Amino acid sequence: MKILLIGANGTIGKAVGAELSQRHEVITAGRNSGDYRVNIQDVQSIRDLYAKTGTIDAVACAAGNVTFAPLESMTPEQFDVGIRDKLMGQVHLVLIGREYVSVRGSFTLISGSLADEPVLFGSSASMVNAAINAFVRAAAIELPNVRINAVSPTVLEESMESYGPFFRGAEAVPARRVALAYSRSIEGANTGQVYNVL
Ligand SMILES: NC(=O)c1ccc[n+]([C@@H]2O[C@H](COP(=O)([O-])OP(=O)(O)OC[C@H]3O[C@@H](n4cnc5c(N)ncnc54)[C@H](OP(=O)(O)O)[C@@H]3O)[C@@H](O)[C@H]2O)c1
Repeated sequence: MKILLIGANGTIGKAVGAELSQRHEVITAGRNSGDYRVNIQDVQSIRDLYAKTGTIDAVACAAGNVTFAPLESMTPEQFDVGIRDKLMGQVHLVLIGREYVSVRGSFTLISGSLADEPVLFGSSASMVNAAINAFVRAAAIELPNVRINAVSPTVLEESMESYGPFFRGAEAVPARRVALAYSRSIEGANTGQVYNVL
């Protein structure tokens, strides 16, 4: 398969690339790294990316920013980051990418366990992750020719240094387990699934 991996240079993206490149051609993209540059907040940038890749069999996204902050001090602009970047960035990857993904090909989006398990300072992440999961379930019944799933991990072992204080008591998972969920989504046959990695 020819797989477009967005956010390939990140903690999750690197593990996904290592897993999939054993069996597939992986084209990488990121804001500042990869075979191609893309900013998923920018619709024209997404259009330019697909114009360069041409037809692909799968799109895997491991990119998406949200702001962590106390709800009490969250500004509309801080909430907007998660909506424009992680949520609508990935929705636009699907809307624009539909025409480029081959029949029975797939989209795999990234959400996160905060959709179901809120933590302090994570209100934006919870909102955005739940919206991504809902979008995937709904889009699957309207996309007859293309599959779409989400991967929803808890905090990663590799990220504990930065995210640890937000996730006290959570059992972290290694990035390679998250990569296996992408593999199930891309190399399996399901659609409309949220693969929890807990
Ligand atoms: N890490 C965790 O514990 C964890 C747990 C659950 C869910 N998640 C979710 O998983 C996703 C990835 O997390 P991560 O920890 O792997 O992040 P990361 O290490 O910061 O990597 C993010 C990657 O995405 C790219 N990227 C960021 N913003 C982009 C944009 N607007 N357009 C295009 N590419 C962009 C970056 O590209 P450049 O390097 O080129 O700038 C980088 O390669 C996030 O949405 C996060 O919420 C993470």
